[in-house]
Amino acid sequence: MTALITATNLSKSFPIFGGRLIKKQIGALHAVEDVSFTIARGETLAVVGESGCGKSTTGRLVMRLIEPTAGQVDFDGVDLMSLRGEKLKQERRRLQLIFQDPSSAFNPRMTVANLVAEPMNIAGRSASEQRDRVRELLPLVGLAPEHADRFPHQFSGGQRQRIGIARALALRPDFVVCDEPVSALDVSVQAQVVNLLKDLQQQFGLTYMFISHDLRVVRHIADRVAVMYLGKIVEYGEKHKVYSNPTHPYTRLLMSAVPLPEPGRKRHVATVGEIETQGIANNGCRFASRCPHVMPICRDVVPPLVETDIDHSAACHLVNKSLGAAA
Ligand SMILES: Nc1ncnc2c1ncn2[C@@H]1O[C@H](COP(=O)(O)OP(=O)(O)OP(=O)(O)O)[C@@H](O)[C@H]1O
Ligand SMILES: [Mg+2]
Repeated sequence: MTALITATNLSKSFPIFGGRLIKKQIGALHAVEDVSFTIARGETLAVVGESGCGKSTTGRLVMRLIEPTAGQVDFDGVDLMSLRGEKLKQERRRLQLIFQDPSSAFNPRMTVANLVAEPMNIAGRSASEQRDRVRELLPLVGLAPEHADRFPHQFSGGQRQRIGIARALALRPDFVVCDEPVSALDVSVQAQVVNLLKDLQQQFGLTYMFISHDLRVVRHIADRVAVMYLGKIVEYGEKHKVYSNPTHPYTRLLMSAVPLPEPGRKRHVATVGEIETQGIANNGCRFASRCPHVMPICRDVVPPLVETDIDHSAACHLVNKSLGAAA
């Protein structure tokens, strides 16, 4: 299997401003830290974790919508970070984004046909090419031809997401970052949209990064899973291995039936605790304060991501200890 995307040691820090006039930088928030992964062509990497753990930032870095503080992204053999100008524009068309609430990006005065055609319009495609492609795309995403002349407010959330998917596919991308694409939808509609994405992937050989705060949502579509906690990957591996043998205590917590809060909402789930985005310790495991198995070393030394099995790794001192004991 050839890699389409290889991210190596990606990090992104955002400045924290404070002081009397809120102008002085008083620190940095390490939203993504030293994250590496590979996505094979035609496969789906699910990126899972609670609100604020850096999932969207990782997705944006991989598409180079934001610049990393450090690290590289190789896209189809090209160093994405080295691209400039027209070449960057061209490559970016091969990378598209589907997000949670597509209608927030929709101009309410534009018809479905115009919304779906907009990326082609910006890319300078002819009017007839745009028309043909819209006609082709609507049935592919489960919309009817007569929907073309309607406006986004006339649709349900699930249908609006279908419009968002059609728009993302307009320029025939290779790689699509699906950022919580079903989180705002009714549970009954979620499976339909996930199935649609899966069908489209098979039909067009698409490669996905599928971001979700819920491990259950990605089970059907993922090939590999990366579990993130406060900017770091804590478990990474082939889907069946992660689901059948969750190794990191945080993954096990996510696997428990406790429903996690939706993204963008304030999190208050007593059983799972709360992510401490402020005051992250520089040393030690970021999960230490919530971990039921915490040991003294966890507060002092950052656990490296180590392979526990072929195609399965975890960043946990407990794992290191048991591997050491077994060796
Ligand atoms: N442009 C920005 N400026 C400052 N801080 C930011 C910026 N974008 C993200 N952050 C911070 O980086 C951290 C990670 O944010 P990110 O949006 O990637 O999380 P997420 O996992 O996608 O969360 P959610 O599930 O709520 O969407 C958060 O603490 C967030 O507040
Ligand atoms: Mg997000």
